[in-house]
Amino acid sequence: METKKTTRKAVSKTATKKTGKTPAKKNAAKQLKDLFEDSLKDIYWAEKALVKALPKMHKNATDKKLKMAIEQHLNETEIHVKRLEECFAALGKKAQAKKCDAMQGLLDEGKSIMEETEAGAVRDAGIVAAAQKVEHYEIATYGSLAAYAKVLKEKICLKNLLATLNEEKKCDELLTKIADTAINSKAK
Ligand SMILES: [Fe+2]
Ligand SMILES: [Fe+2]
Repeated sequence: METKKTTRKAVSKTATKKTGKTPAKKNAAKQLKDLFEDSLKDIYWAEKALVKALPKMHKNATDKKLKMAIEQHLNETEIHVKRLEECFAALGKKAQAKKCDAMQGLLDEGKSIMEETEAGAVRDAGIVAAAQKVEHYEIATYGSLAAYAKVLKEKICLKNLLATLNEEKKCDELLTKIADTAINSKAK
């Protein structure tokens, strides 16, 4: 018996290696709605982590316009958290956060950039870069979530997700403008 079991296991492992396909976990999402809800939990965690991280970026920034942009986006981020809570409510689900490893990585990188730069124009340039990476991640996430909400005909979710997506894009554009007009040439 024992030999049979081992052989079967070995065969299935070889099959996985051959196809390159990742075997799904037991509780893996089966439908788009499951993937939608899982992704909402991820970005809910990410937005809440940002509410904690942005004040630190604000403290470390020196450029007036950059400080203002971070402060404004912190206010918006608090609204992003609330909009997600409305999405969960619209789906009849309890708001639940699931650790987003990607956002944790981006925030860790932001922390190292601050440690590895002298306070002033150079650190400001680093903060802009770190913040833009976060915004791009959010833009990609909200873009996908809005597309799912559209297909799933979740109107309240779609409205909220698009409103946030728009604010993330505007924040990204503002950061580009601030970097181009002031910070990067000063950091040079
Ligand atoms: Fe956000
Ligand atoms: Fe954002």
